[in-house]
Order: sequence, then structure tokens, then C-alpha cells
Amino acid sequence: MIQRRPLRPLPYFAELERLLEAEEPAVRSAFGRHVHWGYWPDPARAGTGAGEFERAADALSLELCRLAELDDGQRILDAGCGFGGTLRLIGERHRDMRLTGLNIDRQQLRRASDNQTDAAARIPFVQGDACRLPYSDACFDRILAVECIFHFPDRRAFFREAFRTLASGGRLALSDFVPTALLRPATALIALRPASTGFYGDCDFTYTLEDYRRLADEFGFRVRAEKDITVNTLPTYRFLRTLAGVIRARRLSAVAETLFAEAASRTGLLRYQLLVFEKAG
Ligand SMILES: C[S@@+](CC[C@H](N)C(=O)[O-])C[C@H]1O[C@@H](n2cnc3c(N)ncnc32)[C@H](O)[C@@H]1O
Repeated sequence: MIQRRPLRPLPYFAELERLLEAEEPAVRSAFGRHVHWGYWPDPARAGTGAGEFERAADALSLELCRLAELDDGQRILDAGCGFGGTLRLIGERHRDMRLTGLNIDRQQLRRASDNQTDAAARIPFVQGDACRLPYSDACFDRILAVECIFHFPDRRAFFREAFRTLASGGRLALSDFVPTALLRPATALIALRPASTGFYGDCDFTYTLEDYRRLADEFGFRVRAEKDITVNTLPTYRFLRTLAGVIRARRLSAVAETLFAEAASRTGLLRYQLLVFEKAG
């Protein structure tokens, strides 16, 4: 397994920032709060509008929260929180939550703070590395990592930190692009690229479902849920094609990397998984 990669700025976020600053309407609607693939409950009826994608983006966060069995009054950390969309949804749906967002990138945290609707219940958005959490032991009931673990420098370090900072009976819920054993050698080669020249930056898509189960076992996590939602993410590729015209930075790479993910997903070699692990009580 590839471990301890350096932290480098993500080119797609720089491009998103440019488009959000320019108030590009489709990008604002689709990626102003979440930056993830989305969940289409009924893929056969999915449209290609930015508003529809926005609902699919909300739905991904909500589906992961549902699997993680969030409840009122919990202490929640969203690691790799992006623009804070998931925490905002949780705050709107639950009472007395103690919500915290953590991200490596200060610029995203500024946008996450600006995105908050309820000034009375301000969420602390903290700069930090998910692999070195700046929190004491057993201080969270749930830790979420929505579509970001493949950027973290070391999955094992993140699991160790999640296990340490979760209270007994607490849960870690994440989403990830998980290769089958057949695709793994190809994704391992991609992850070994010497420098980040691609649109999506440093990504490690080498963890198979078996690797996750082993990692969970190593730390004393029990697997609570594994949900393959690949089919519910496929309409996203059609939507992304509608945005091809507005992308300027690393256009070729943006198209090539997205096409690779689409082909691997449509052929079943790359699976989009929602995973929930419980710290045994
Ligand atoms: C695809 S985005 C997902 C953002 C958010 N979770 C969402 O669903 O909208 C990946 C996120 O991981 C963050 N990230 C990457 N490496 C990180 C690290 N080591 N620690 C914390 N956040 C990190 C990025 O800054 C980015 O916000």
C-alpha cells in the first residue's frame, strides 16, 4: 500500500475557486457547498441540470449520515470538510449537535465559514491534517470523511487518529472510490506518479474492500456498513461533461482522468463505496 504521500495543493480546487469567484452559475450551484460525486437515488431518471446535481450532492452526504446513524446531541467531526456542506445539512436536520469541520486548506475553510446559515450555532472550521488530528482522545461520536480519504497522505494514520479520537461505540463513516483486485495494479501505478500534474492532484485509489476490512480489524473497528453505490454515481459523469467548456486549468488531464474513472466505474472495476466502521464499545 502506498503510504505517507506529501501534501500538495489540489489543482481542481484552484480551478473551482476561480470559477466560484467568477460566479459561474452552474459551478456555484453544483459545487458551492459540496465537492463530491453525488448520489442519484433513481439513476434512470437523472437529469443533467446543475440544480439536479446539487440535490444529488446533498443526497450523498445524507445517505452516508443515514448509514452512520447520526442522532441529536452528538459530537461530529467532518474531516476533509471542503466547503462545509455536509455539516450544514446535519445542523439543519438535528438538534444540539456539536459540529466541527477540519481541512488542510485555509481558503476552503474561509468559504465553509461564509456558507454557514445559522450565525447562532457557528461551526468551528479548523485547519489541520486529518492524519494528525488536533483533538483529545475519545472526544467524538462520529467522524465523517466524505470523498477525501484518497487525498490523505496515509490511510492507516487517519484510521489510527479516528480510532483514538472516537468515543467507545463511535463510528467512522467515509466514502471512497474502491478498485477491484483487477484494477488495483493500474491505480497503484497512477498513484506512483512522480509529481502532481493531473487535474485531481494526488490521489491514491489503491485500497480494495479487503484492504479496508484488514485496516478496520487492525485497529479494532467493526465493519457496520458497506454500501456499493457505483450505479447511483454514474449520472454524475453526464453532468460533468456539461461543465467541460468552463474548465481552463489542465483541461486535457481533467477530461482524461474523468474518462478513466467513468470507464472503470461503468465496467465495474472501480466501485464507489460508503463504509461505516464502529469502535467496539
Ligand atoms: C473531494 S474534496 C471533498 C470535500 C468534502 N468532504 C465534500 O464532500 O464536499 C476532498 C477534500 O479533502 C481535503 N483534504 C485533502 N487532504 C487533506 C488532509 N490531509 N487533511 C484534511 N483534509 C484534506 C481537501 O482539501 C478537500 O477539501
